[in-house]
Amino acid sequence: MIEKIEEYLAEVKNFVTRDKNEIEQFRIKFNGKKGILNDIFARFKEVPNDQKKEFGQKINTLKQAVAQKLDELKTFSETSAVLEKEDLTRPGFPLELGSRHPINLVRNKIVDIFKSIGFAVADGPEIEDDWHNFTALNLPEYHPARDMQDTFFIEQNPDILLRTHTSSVQIRYMENHKPPIRILAPGRVFRNEAVSARSHCIFHQIEGLYIDENVSFADLKQTIQFFTTELFGKSKIRMRPSYFPFTEPSAEVDVYWGLNSETDYRITKGTGWLEIMGCGMVDPAVLKNVNIDPDQYSGYAFGMGIERIVMLLYQMGDIRMFFENDIRMLDQFKSL
Ligand code: PHE
Repeated sequence: MIEKIEEYLAEVKNFVTRDKNEIEQFRIKFNGKKGILNDIFARFKEVPNDQKKEFGQKINTLKQAVAQKLDELKTFSETSAVLEKEDLTRPGFPLELGSRHPINLVRNKIVDIFKSIGFAVADGPEIEDDWHNFTALNLPEYHPARDMQDTFFIEQNPDILLRTHTSSVQIRYMENHKPPIRILAPGRVFRNEAVSARSHCIFHQIEGLYIDENVSFADLKQTIQFFTTELFGKSKIRMRPSYFPFTEPSAEVDVYWGLNSETDYRITKGTGWLEIMGCGMVDPAVLKNVNIDPDQYSGYAFGMGIERIVMLLYQMGDIRMFFENDIRMLDQFKSL
């Protein structure tokens, strides 16, 4: 009996055909009601007890071999049928190339501009503690940004949260490096805001920080002017007094966009000016918090939202588009 099964096994292994009828005959011969497998199973009770184990294993091997062969033959005959119909000399389908996301495109542009004047890229975690996101940045406890309404807390007392701005990277970097410091920190930030065409609970910022001896507000203005000229081709800027807890004095920067088209009127609300970033001289209290002597060193910092700049550059009207990943939108950035 055992030898007979071995013979069947060899037969199954060697069998090959593409012909559907022959495959069906093979199936009936082994798997059919009156087929070989059923016949062998039926004779199992005649096998002496001490051989049952070996015999059982052999039948199972044969059963599996038949099932596997039938599978193979099926695929083989189907693909052969396809191959016979296909024109194998036809050129292949073009492979679609992906494209960079507009946020990454613009982030890279901004990084390149600042790299050309000596800034290095730094980064920090998206999950932050209270010290790096708020306290070290001189954000008083009653500051609205700390409110549950604005900040996503992961844990309270001690507070662990999703960073609300990239300014936390300033602190991390200054804690570990001595001046001169000249860094750019791009990254994702999170705020608990209702999602609309103009705001989203996740967005991207780029932070800049420069600390050295004798850094002045004029240096800040010059650097920003260089940046707007490189990115937008526009060098006319104005700085409006503003407030950030970690800079003193602080300013908002507007670029003069012009009033040459209807769109210019619309996006600048008829003024010609567009706000693009916040900035200021690093508050001495912040320097003290990271053990940098404010009598010896001074510096400036700035921060801007990347989405806003992409929307300006490519005239996109809705911030939600950046997070939907609709290929029809992404495709338009292929050649850039
Ligand atoms: N962190 C500020 C914000 O999120 C931007 C900023 C950065 C302002 C650095 C001044 C200096 O609005």
